[in-house]
Amino acid sequence: MNETHYQARRQKLLDSIEEGIIVLSSSPLQTRSNDTEYPYRQNSDFYYLSGFEEANALLVLVKTKEFEKTVLFVEPNSDEFALWNGARLGVEGALKRFLVDEVHSIFEYTNHIKEILREHIALYFDFNDDSNHLKLAQKSAKELRESRGVKRYIRTFHDVTHLTRTMRLIKSFEEIDKIRHAISLTASAHHEAMKRCKNGMQEFELQACMSYVFLSNGAVSEAYGAIVAGGNNANTLHYINNRDVLKEGDLVLIDAACEWELYASDITRTFPVNGKFSDAQREVYEKVLDVQLRIIEAMKPNVKRDWLQRYSEELLCQALIDLGILSGEVNALIEAKAHKKYAPHGIGHWMGLDVHDPCPYVDDRGESLVFCAGMVMTIEPGIYIRADDESVAEKYRGIGVRIEDNILITAEGCENLSSMIAKTVDEIEEMCKS
Ligand code: GLY
Ligand code: MN
Ligand code: MN
Repeated sequence: MNETHYQARRQKLLDSIEEGIIVLSSSPLQTRSNDTEYPYRQNSDFYYLSGFEEANALLVLVKTKEFEKTVLFVEPNSDEFALWNGARLGVEGALKRFLVDEVHSIFEYTNHIKEILREHIALYFDFNDDSNHLKLAQKSAKELRESRGVKRYIRTFHDVTHLTRTMRLIKSFEEIDKIRHAISLTASAHHEAMKRCKNGMQEFELQACMSYVFLSNGAVSEAYGAIVAGGNNANTLHYINNRDVLKEGDLVLIDAACEWELYASDITRTFPVNGKFSDAQREVYEKVLDVQLRIIEAMKPNVKRDWLQRYSEELLCQALIDLGILSGEVNALIEAKAHKKYAPHGIGHWMGLDVHDPCPYVDDRGESLVFCAGMVMTIEPGIYIRADDESVAEKYRGIGVRIEDNILITAEGCENLSSMIAKTVDEIEEMCKS
């Protein structure tokens, strides 16, 4: 992605408003404990519009009827910081690299912001931004409003994230390339886990072998906390403890994936610890797989996301009836939410700069969005049967299966970006053997 991409996004954002000031902050540094911090991860909206990965920065876009301007505030370089942490880009570096009109030190923001806001009537920002920089902008807007003789002042506040996240819905070729790269490393990691898995291993050993693949191939981070859930642990949806023994005869559900240049992947595979599905495990697995394949087959432009969700619930309900877990008529079971006990989560979510990309799911009238080429969504049906659920045949108890792939909507239909990862029973058993 070169600087013209970010410039084009800023222009598109400015084109979507009549006039006003847009203020977007970088992510804050997060303390882990005492004087240590979590690895820094840039705010996705800020990154989407700036391409800038450093902390303590601000992007300010200005639009009047007469002119437009982009201003970046960054931390200046300092010898002391460079000695401990390495050089920052600094004001000069940022001005050279980014196609913005002005770059100032973040320490000059206090002086600039009142002047920037003067004579403007609308302020766009992230309503969840509780940074001091944003508070200062709001305070300055209030002071201007209360100043004598000022006729034009900030009268309306707007949520900028709705605009940026609507833009983020449709991924460019360059963004899709990054997602593809993340998925290719994640594919290798899942295959490695299938190959290495043995009875008696610890869940965290499989997590470690996947992390090795990510880190040794240059991925900076996982896209989210890895789930490596043996046996009944798979029925805890957000199981991240990963500290149990993988037992002979159990399945293991792995929901783990890496991020590449801030773009996520999000993949789940479920496979037998001993490399061979039992009959009961295969029955449940093939039901979930069949649901997943049918849903992916239905994904194409102009299909409503809400329709896909409903369709997935019908398919999962039917699968549960086929397994003898539910009985009755599909629509009535859905109405009673009977399937939610065994298939509690949604069919998928947008994915991009965030694993759960916070792009809208509905339009301004509250109607479900329809799929368009360039959207990326996970498809992740699951059936979860708790070990202590005596209402289900004993052979199925303790089985939890989820299968998750990352799907790109194309002009003709869709492309499963993660189709290279072993998924059928035969493919998985073959991979486990190798
Ligand atoms: N890994 C998180 C999710 O599947 O949504
Ligand atoms: Mn996942
Ligand atoms: Mn997911």
